[in-house]
Amino acid sequence: AKHGMSTEEMLKLHRDFLTVLKPLYLQLHTWAKYELAKKYGQPVPKAIPAHWINNRWSQEWTGMVEGVDFDAFVNKEKGWTSEKIVKTAESFFQSIGFPKLPESFWQKSDLYPVKPGDTRKKNSHASCWHIDLDQDVRSLMSVEPNFQWFGTAHHEMGHGYYQLAYSNPSVPPLLRDSATTAFHEGMAELMSLATRQVPYLKATGVLPAEYKADPIKVLLAEALETAIPFMYWGSGTMTEWEADFYAGNMPADQMNARWWKMVHDLQGVEPPSPRDEHYCDPATKTHINDAPGYYFNYNIAFVLKFQFHDYICKHILKQDPHAANYAGHPEVGKYLETWLKKGATEDWRKLLKDATGEELSTRAMAEYFAPLQKWLEKQNKGRQIGW
Ligand code: ASP
Ligand code: SER
Ligand code: ZN
Repeated sequence: AKHGMSTEEMLKLHRDFLTVLKPLYLQLHTWAKYELAKKYGQPVPKAIPAHWINNRWSQEWTGMVEGVDFDAFVNKEKGWTSEKIVKTAESFFQSIGFPKLPESFWQKSDLYPVKPGDTRKKNSHASCWHIDLDQDVRSLMSVEPNFQWFGTAHHEMGHGYYQLAYSNPSVPPLLRDSATTAFHEGMAELMSLATRQVPYLKATGVLPAEYKADPIKVLLAEALETAIPFMYWGSGTMTEWEADFYAGNMPADQMNARWWKMVHDLQGVEPPSPRDEHYCDPATKTHINDAPGYYFNYNIAFVLKFQFHDYICKHILKQDPHAANYAGHPEVGKYLETWLKKGATEDWRKLLKDATGEELSTRAMAEYFAPLQKWLEKQNKGRQIGW
């Protein structure tokens, strides 16, 4: 309803995303399953066994591309602490023209893991909250010194800066919100896309100045970890299952069976061993429990982040979208501010058109990964594609 769309229209939007991206997903899926079969000394399967992938839901396929595993650079041994990650993120926002976070952010947020011995229970899944629809913005995280948290800290602060931007006198409190929830996630995701670019990682000392990687491998890792499998998981399994659960007529004794059928049919992944209705595996995903009917926003956000990134690189920074560095460019913040500060006062379609000149579209995402398609087709020549 917030998007001004019916359930059917929303489902169609996501199904269309997946149709456009399918040729690339099939190539990535094939490349990954041959790579993993080799790694584990197993015959090449049709669907990928879930336990071969580094993420419980197969939503981000990390650690598969040699030489592009940034966890090797963000860890204790390399001098990273949780505090340094969060401070680096704040510095990034300041360098693109945003103010320092209010002092209360640092006093009232809950940013680090519960200390050993402390019996307090805490959901460590990151979030960022606007407490008073004004300057009181707080984040809940459990930041540890690794690359996943490096991206997530930038993501959460993206929410915080969006909240601060629309807390201004021209936005009435009821409209102090994002254009749609997908735009909130879009801003947050844009920040994590920007801060995974190699030139930024070098500038912040994550990667040494002499770091060199094959650009196609960088793009491959980016596709696997931050873009394409995530679409089949989010626009696919999560969105279809929640639509079936809330708006469809999913029988109570089919909750797990439907889930795994979607994981198989849409993601091309299968459980390590058969699952039955003693379990409700969807409930392992925090959003199923505490953010119902929300997840599809992340997938619109993933589409949006490439649209905004493309616009910023081409029209503001005049940099290659594959090797950009926003840091030190306050004109980026100025551009973001033009739409962030409007909050929910305008229809999202108009806002997007004004900010990027185009409608919601996978064009930018597909263009970004286009060089990869050709390279993968070569690698996968003669291989069995699909499941
Ligand atoms: N980054 C987390 C995820 O997206 C929470 C958030 O949206 O801030 O679930
Ligand atoms: N933050 C969301 C998740 O953790 C989407 O990336 O699943
Ligand atoms: Zn978010």
